[in-house]
Amino acid sequence: MRGKTPRGQPPGPAAAAGPAGEASAELQVRPVRAADLPDVIALDATVTGLHKADYWQRVYRRYGVGGQGLRHFLVAVAGARVVGFMIGEVRDWEFGSPPCGWVFAIDVDPHARQQGIGTRLLAAMRERFERVGVRMLRTMLASDNHLILSFFRSQGMRAGRLIPLELEIGAPG
Ligand SMILES: CC(C)(COP(=O)(O)OP(=O)(O)OC[C@H]1O[C@@H](n2cnc3c(N)ncnc32)[C@H](O)[C@@H]1OP(=O)(O)O)[C@@H](O)C(=O)NCCC(=O)NCCS
Repeated sequence: MRGKTPRGQPPGPAAAAGPAGEASAELQVRPVRAADLPDVIALDATVTGLHKADYWQRVYRRYGVGGQGLRHFLVAVAGARVVGFMIGEVRDWEFGSPPCGWVFAIDVDPHARQQGIGTRLLAAMRERFERVGVRMLRTMLASDNHLILSFFRSQGMRAGRLIPLELEIGAPG
């Protein structure tokens, strides 16, 4: 698809794209810092259309600084610019399952996609989960989000044995 590297191999450090898709600075995946939050909020807003500053402050407190090795909020940074993020955590013995690593948010800048950044973020998250002995990676996605399904399938993920159930609650407004 991206045609620059052999299939399945993330690109080298120089392959992150700038705002116009041009090759730019070295790509680094690292834990989020407070100074990254404006970029994260803006990136989320480009994908969701919502500018949720309070929400991201809460996520930062819980996953950014308070993670204690089990919660991870990672960013992919090209030069000084955040071009992607991923959030995940280890959850113990939920639904009778041994500890597993859940990934529950991922976004890559639309101008920097299909260059291996999502792959790099997931690899970094997986490494952190494996470090604490986790042997199962899980995620949940909207059934009509074919892009994200395609991405996770490309990473080797397949339908699991848990199924989601839901119920609308609360009086109608
Ligand atoms: C899904 C997403 C994270 C992928 O990020 P990315 O950096 O472009 O992913 P990669 O370049 O690492 O791609 C890895 C593989 O994913 C699949 N993939 C990525 N983009 C794709 C696309 N547009 N169409 C089909 N498959 C695609 C491909 O199999 C690709 O491998 P290939 O390039 O060798 O074919 C990115 O498109 C994104 O952020 N989308 C929006 C996510 C979203 O909806 N978030 C809100 C819910 S949490």
